[in-house]
Amino acid sequence: MDDALNRNDLQGVIEADRAHVWHHLSQHKQYETVDPRVIVEGKGLRVWDATGRETLDAVSGGVWTVNVGYGRESIANVVRDQLLKMNYFAGSAGSVPGALYAEALTATMPGMTRVYYSNSGSEANEKAYKMVRQIAHQRHGGNKWKILYRERDYHGTTIAALASGGQEERKAMYGPFPAGFVPVPHCLEYRSQWGDVSDYGLRAANAIEEVILREGPDSVGAIILEPVTAGGGVITPPEGYWPRVQEICRKYDLLLIIDEVVCGVGRTGVWFGYQNYDIQPDIVTMAKGVASGYAAISCTVTTERVFEMFKDDAQDPMSYFRDISTFGGCTAGPAAALENMRIIEAENLLGNTLAMGDRLMDNLHRLMEKHPVIGDVRGKGLFCGAELVADRTSKEPLPEKTVSAVLGAVMKRGVQIGMTNRSLPGLNNTLCLSPALMVTADQIDQITDAIDGALSEVVGS
Ligand SMILES: Cc1ncc(COP(=O)(O)O)c(C=O)c1O
Repeated sequence: MDDALNRNDLQGVIEADRAHVWHHLSQHKQYETVDPRVIVEGKGLRVWDATGRETLDAVSGGVWTVNVGYGRESIANVVRDQLLKMNYFAGSAGSVPGALYAEALTATMPGMTRVYYSNSGSEANEKAYKMVRQIAHQRHGGNKWKILYRERDYHGTTIAALASGGQEERKAMYGPFPAGFVPVPHCLEYRSQWGDVSDYGLRAANAIEEVILREGPDSVGAIILEPVTAGGGVITPPEGYWPRVQEICRKYDLLLIIDEVVCGVGRTGVWFGYQNYDIQPDIVTMAKGVASGYAAISCTVTTERVFEMFKDDAQDPMSYFRDISTFGGCTAGPAAALENMRIIEAENLLGNTLAMGDRLMDNLHRLMEKHPVIGDVRGKGLFCGAELVADRTSKEPLPEKTVSAVLGAVMKRGVQIGMTNRSLPGLNNTLCLSPALMVTADQIDQITDAIDGALSEVVGS
């Protein structure tokens, strides 16, 4: 770790943090007796905290964000140059990096043509919802205003995004929520709602049709889905699920919104998670990995068909998309995103994600043979999860406290992994792994060796 800040300075930082910072997702009582963790520096996949302790980060900044790793000088340089030339102008005007990134991004997304910029995943999804609502008013006489979402999926932290969240612990105590967000069943075959069936994927998709018929097809305008559910337990879709979902959307004229906030920009080994499943969305949202956390940026990307609906009645002063996001006009975001994309291409990080993702999966399967506490492993590319159970036959989830203890024991071995957190009552039992896309074979082995040791220590073998 660089010596720019010495220990005494850092003690001051820790005290300032303890006294004044309200940490995300944190119960602060603990900081009366232990120091809050302050991360000081990062390089590649390694981070150092204020005590000088080094950790291998297997979750890309804690929440699957820093896809190209820490300390990328070329991103810092392009952002610096761009800020000096033109840092900001409202998004009603264009910018050089905004135009070039939109062109480069849509080139990776056949069928998608327009990019609407904002700042966070939640906001990108809010934009999509506002588009659906305005289309409902303009095109459907106020009908087709409901938006379906799936149990266990997450789409953000703002009130409407939470209303469309399928994780009860995230939503609890933040209601009442706005009307018109309707849940459909999850598609996690390991916890099948229909017992042991051979056509689980089809059933889970057909369950969406049942909701549409119950609500009334005239009232439902869209469905939002994660290609692979992230914080809800790393749920890869079962065989047959996506083609049927697409068919249902076409049958009932639903806009298909794909939330790529986690899967987007390479995480699963292709540019976008939905591209693994041969589907054509109407709207795609993305954030975290777009600029790997070097700048705040999110995108709501649409087809030309969706875009045209906001353009073709120029006589009506209310017909265009009357939305603004102040910081959607910051140029640092698209400048960083362009360089982020160049790095992924130049270093063949999609190829590395596929190869290292296979290695991670193989290692996890080997751990599963050794540790009965691993009930299921799931994943796509460098986005993997291991669900821990107290008993393999009953699939009783391992208590959250024990899963947290496993995380602590992994950390003790110098590796940071994640777990489903304040997400589903009784089901916060999945370990989550999402290392940066340039992870090496040795680092993959270091991650799974740490999990191996931690499971032996905490739950025995
Ligand atoms: C799938 C998904 N969508 C949306 C969001 C919200 O993104 P943000 O925290 O940038 O608002 C998240 C955040 O974890 C997410 O995992």
